[in-house]
Amino acid sequence: MGQTHLGLVGLGTMGSALTLNIAENGFPIAVMTRNPERVTEFLADAGPLAEKITGCGNSAEALVEALEAPRTIILMVPAGEIVDKLVAQIMPLLSAGDTIVDAGNANFHNTRRRGDIMAREGKHFIGMGVSGGEDGARHGPSIMVGGDPASYAPIKPVIEAISAKFEGEPCADHLGPDGAGHFVKTVHNGIEYADMQLIAETYGILRNGQGQSPEDIGALFETWNAGNLNSYLMEISAKVLQAHDSKTGAPAVDVILDKAGQKGTGRWTVIEALTLGQSASAIEAAVGARGWSADKPIREKAAVIFPETVSPNVDLSTEDMAAALLAGRILAYAQGFQILQAASDHYEWNVDMARVAEIWRAGCIIRSALLDDISNAFRSDLPDGRLLLAPAFTDALQTGTVAMRKLVAAAALAGQPIPAFSASLAWFDTMRKARGTTDLVQAQRDFFGAHGFERIDADGGKHHGPWWD
Ligand code: 6PG
Repeated sequence: MGQTHLGLVGLGTMGSALTLNIAENGFPIAVMTRNPERVTEFLADAGPLAEKITGCGNSAEALVEALEAPRTIILMVPAGEIVDKLVAQIMPLLSAGDTIVDAGNANFHNTRRRGDIMAREGKHFIGMGVSGGEDGARHGPSIMVGGDPASYAPIKPVIEAISAKFEGEPCADHLGPDGAGHFVKTVHNGIEYADMQLIAETYGILRNGQGQSPEDIGALFETWNAGNLNSYLMEISAKVLQAHDSKTGAPAVDVILDKAGQKGTGRWTVIEALTLGQSASAIEAAVGARGWSADKPIREKAAVIFPETVSPNVDLSTEDMAAALLAGRILAYAQGFQILQAASDHYEWNVDMARVAEIWRAGCIIRSALLDDISNAFRSDLPDGRLLLAPAFTDALQTGTVAMRKLVAAAALAGQPIPAFSASLAWFDTMRKARGTTDLVQAQRDFFGAHGFERIDADGGKHHGPWWD
């Protein structure tokens, strides 16, 4: 066992996988978890990698003693109160200059708060987003690091070694101070929600509006995955739709209750977007759709009160469906990056958007062919830093939104809900109108509250309408 500076707390699925990944890359590591028997079991299952791992049972003292300063202790535990408890337990045992890394899906406000507490003691706190599920954690996740860059330096070689690689480059980087890493991960998840919802809506139209079987839709998704719609989520959706339930032999999706869960990151993306004066309508539609799905008993009653009154058929070519899905995905990314930029400006994080897109190209759940084009767009002269205006996406958006229009109109007439597509199209159409209708909203505000407005023929100022003369 070499000199160990690195510890990890939490041997659940993600913590175990990350520890094995770290050990396999040649870095010694000490581990502790709540249940000491789990440490024994984990080491017994680790095979030759156990040589690199020091078990410390459930003792924070033993963990800290096993490490040489400067120490870095990674927490891989569920987000929330348990992180506060562990910080309170471990922080007093650490020396100045030591670091705690929270690798869970924390709310970035908590990360900022915890960072302040640690900083007052001369210790560091890093909020680190890790994406890629269990397989990613074991074989190469995408890693989004925040916090003090100086505290990242000692673990940078470990983080880069264990991360996914895109054309040999690590999909891990320090993206900004304090909560930047966790904020980027939150927005990653928001985009993940939107992309999953767009794929599910596409499936819904093909299934309920065109009568295709899950197997056929899965096969179609497989062909799409070989083209410009290539993505991890497309790939797994194709596999899921072609899978069969071992108990009944039915398509696997047909035995799954249509009530989606959520742990909070998608919702936080929307909350933060609104707080920053932005709107992530495609992401909100996806979060909302999950919420509505959970209202199953009411949906069942409403289905009886409001039976189908229109033909459910949606007459649309698969080419149009694919083009609409690609445009929807571009718009979801555009909203996500816009929120990220707004937060980066507000909190003065100076996040490099191109770098974010680059480290999302492999390892994470939203990895897709599109991300290479997005990082190139950010690296080139992107007008106003907005993906919506990127020349690289103009053609796909032109073609795709024509298809989206047909899809949204046909789905509405057929009574098929596609909230994420509808919200995306409404956002796109709002943004491509140089003059909208909020002139009337401003007039209304001025009429009832004398809030004032800017005139089209004067710079700035607070003008009032003739209703005040
Ligand atoms: C990832 C995933 C991961 C997790 C989400 C799921 O990037 O690896 O996003 O973090 O699967 O938390 O979130 P929901 O349970 O809210 O869908």
